[in-house]
Amino acid sequence: MSRLPIKFLFACGFVFTLLTSTAIADNDPSASISTFLSRHWQRPLQHQGEAPVSFPALEVSLDPRACGTCHPQQLQDWQGSLHAHAMGPGLLGQLMDMNPADRAEHQACLHCHAPLAEQADEVVTWLSGGETGISPEGSVPNGPLYNQGLICAGCHLRNYQIHGPHRNKALPPSPPLNENAHQPHNGWQPQDAFESSVFCAACHQFEADGYALNGKLLENTFEEWKASPQAKEGKSCQSCHMPDRRHLWRGIHDKATVLSGVRISLDGVETNNEKVRGILTLTNTEVGHRFPTYVTPRVVMEAIQLDSLNQQIPVTRQVQIVARQVSLDLSRELFDTRLAPGETAHLDYQAPLHPDTQSILFRIQIEPDTFYRDFYRATLNSGSSDKGAETLRLALQNAEASVYTLFRRDIQLELNSEP
Ligand code: HEC
Ligand code: HEC
Ligand code: HEC
Ligand code: HEC
Ligand code: HEC
Repeated sequence: MSRLPIKFLFACGFVFTLLTSTAIADNDPSASISTFLSRHWQRPLQHQGEAPVSFPALEVSLDPRACGTCHPQQLQDWQGSLHAHAMGPGLLGQLMDMNPADRAEHQACLHCHAPLAEQADEVVTWLSGGETGISPEGSVPNGPLYNQGLICAGCHLRNYQIHGPHRNKALPPSPPLNENAHQPHNGWQPQDAFESSVFCAACHQFEADGYALNGKLLENTFEEWKASPQAKEGKSCQSCHMPDRRHLWRGIHDKATVLSGVRISLDGVETNNEKVRGILTLTNTEVGHRFPTYVTPRVVMEAIQLDSLNQQIPVTRQVQIVARQVSLDLSRELFDTRLAPGETAHLDYQAPLHPDTQSILFRIQIEPDTFYRDFYRATLNSGSSDKGAETLRLALQNAEASVYTLFRRDIQLELNSEP
């Protein structure tokens, strides 16, 4: 298996015309948001150009650690987010197998994973064996940018002009400025768009004629959200993923986030000397889109009987998968059991009591990276990766290690020992 499928997946999902596809009318108040965002996310992004002469080196640097000297909370939160790790080994390994000079080929991935033109330049240098991010000023953080993923400047900076949300009303007013004093990065342009879900659609929604399987776009989070009761209650992507404007972006990889969006119950566990029964349910109560939204994770609901040594008895296992599973070459959808907001999945366990059974285990496992795990395995086994193979092996290990248990109950069965 080559890396073609993933390329196909995303290359077909170019979002250049995304904002027109959301069909916003001219007289709509969101029209100005749409106009701003179509400029802000015009791919490929342009170079920042010359920094204003009044900028000290710290403000010229595009390195997140430079922003972080004045915005430490945002830096710390961002560093723990997947946006900061968007150029992980899974991505780097695939880039390494591309033609070093083919910027268009790199762009198919970089435009969401590391969108700045300055990052794209560095990718060419890095793939051609050159050195990147050499800082002339020792004290100004200015490391390579290409491997830092979706950096602050990727969302906030265009032509050396900072764009951000309107001032947080919860904060004390800015200290009055001396007219001649230099304001850091010459202040900023407040934009409604930063508080709107459309901001996130630039990378979390394919355009209407993008790659689809079984009549459904491969990436459809924004549209799923628009149809959700949460959207009607006024909850944006930011309200759940950036609470109090914090740059956390936790999702399926984080247990607490997943638990905040679902209700789990286990009912009717009963047994007699012939049968065991129990109903495990999982409801999407507060995820503002499908659970899960992408084709990459898998949620496994399972029940299995255990013997006196707590060993699983394989023949007694029953499972219910909640996922949109697609073939590795992305040519087919195998099934789609994801939960729209309000929907419930049931595992109605009914099985003969095994003679060795002492207890029964009900469990929900989250596998955030199943599609990638299988894709890396297939790519490595086929030998189609050349320079990237070692890096992809690391990506495979990470994908295997991200599995965790969302819910678990071990129930001792009251067994009647009389014949
Ligand atoms: C020398 C310090 C300094 C540096 C470096 C700096 N900023 Fe700022 N930034 C500020 C100050 C001060 C404000 C105004 C805060 C206020 O009014 O409360 C600000 C405001 C902002 C805002 C608007 C906040 C809002 O309420 O909407 C954003 C966004 C922002 N900066 C992003 C960045 C990014 C991204 C970088 C790096 C490319 C950066 N800043 C580098 C000091 C700095
Ligand atoms: C420039 C493109 C881009 C923009 C804009 C963007 N994202 Fe992302 N986002 C990504 C990429 C790429 C990843 C995957 C990073 C990785 O794992 O390699 C991601 C990952 C995430 C995740 C983590 C998913 C998980 O698997 O746990 C969440 C949550 C998220 N984004 C929410 C948002 C929200 C909310 C916004 C809007 C405020 C937003 N994103 C804007 C590109 C973007
Ligand atoms: C439209 C935006 C977009 C484009 C373009 C895009 N990705 Fe992603 N990618 C995402 C998002 C969002 C996630 C996180 C959700 C998920 O896991 O599906 C992600 C996750 C990944 C991951 C798993 C997380 C990680 O960092 O290991 C890999 C690998 C990946 N993408 C590879 C690629 C490659 C290779 C390309 C180019 C051929 C590409 N992507 C193009 C949005 C994009
Ligand atoms: C994925 C895009 C994205 C990235 C990356 C990003 N931000 Fe933001 N930032 C936002 C959005 C969206 C908001 C507004 C959130 C809201 O209004 O709920 C915001 C708000 C802010 C604010 C205003 C905070 C407040 O409390 O008013 C500052 C300052 C800021 N960002 C700085 C940074 C810095 C520094 C980094 C890097 C360490 C960074 N941002 C990375 C999208 C991003
Ligand atoms: C009402 C809260 C809520 C809203 C609104 C919301 N999300 Fe989520 N989101 C969650 C929860 C909870 C999860 C974890 C469960 C899951 O993965 O579906 C999640 C997971 C994710 C993931 C992880 C990948 C996956 O396959 O699930 C991404 C990416 C994401 N959200 C992006 C977005 C974007 C973009 C928007 C806006 C268009 C948005 N979310 C709106 C609560 C919300």
